[in-house]
Amino acid sequence: MHRGKGMKFVGDSRVPALSMRKPNIPKDYSEYPGKTEAFWPNFLLKEWMVGSVFLVGYLCLTVAHPSPLERIADPTDTGYIPLPDWYFLFLYQLLKYSYASGPYTTIGAFIMPGLAFGSLLLAPFLDRGPERRPKKRPVAVGFMLLALAATVFLTWESVAHHDWEAAKKQGAIKKTVEVDKNADGYKVMQANTCLTCHGDNLQGGAAAPQLQGLTLKPEEIAKIAKEGRGKMPAGVFKGTDEELKKLSEYIAQYNKK
Ligand code: HEC
Repeated sequence: MHRGKGMKFVGDSRVPALSMRKPNIPKDYSEYPGKTEAFWPNFLLKEWMVGSVFLVGYLCLTVAHPSPLERIADPTDTGYIPLPDWYFLFLYQLLKYSYASGPYTTIGAFIMPGLAFGSLLLAPFLDRGPERRPKKRPVAVGFMLLALAATVFLTWESVAHHDWEAAKKQGAIKKTVEVDKNADGYKVMQANTCLTCHGDNLQGGAAAPQLQGLTLKPEEIAKIAKEGRGKMPAGVFKGTDEELKKLSEYIAQYNKK
């Protein structure tokens, strides 16, 4: 066995040309004194050491940069626009075009991605030419560049068209406490339909902001309850002045501390 004499590599990942294929006889590594080592424990120990360096590195990264969690998902919040992770943004963007959405959703969700990923899967069977140089494989290279350009373009479009400010607000974690549901103020709110918009824990919802953690004085709350503000209609409150006082003091006790 003098195969490989004069060459310095051990373990060759190059695929030999068909005509040069030889039977699979393992190399006789005694030809490389001092260049081999035992798999157990020498080689494995080194592998594990490298592995643990990466593991500790990733752990440090996750501690330094916690994942950007949003508030707990609320199925009643129809205004929330979910966004997939960056590597799926191109598929997400595809579904926004008129011939890939609405009545054509099947095209955008199944047929187009199915064709693309299906042909990727079948590429080794479809493209059997022995050529390796890109210039000699115009069809494969053409499709590859087309797919790359489409993916980059769609990802770009979806990032450019997303309202990141609104998304940050929508997903913000709001601190809420459990409100006292036996208090008189709570009952006044209930009677005046405040809770249908602002939530039965004053936590807010799709229709109205939360009424916890405000910075409004009781008088200001009373004014909003009677006169409305912005999208909140006027005249929601229909009770007495005494009730209004109870209500506004009740809300104000959950003000930002
Ligand atoms: C029809 C739904 C609806 C009802 C019913 C309603 N609100 Fe509102 N409320 C809103 C909306 C929407 C806003 C946000 C207004 C804005 O954009 O300025 C709001 C805002 C407020 C604010 C100001 C919150 C802030 O972040 O500054 C207070 C206080 C408030 N409401 C109190 C009440 C009280 C008290 C009642 C019951 C008497 C009530 N609301 C009933 C929809 C409602």
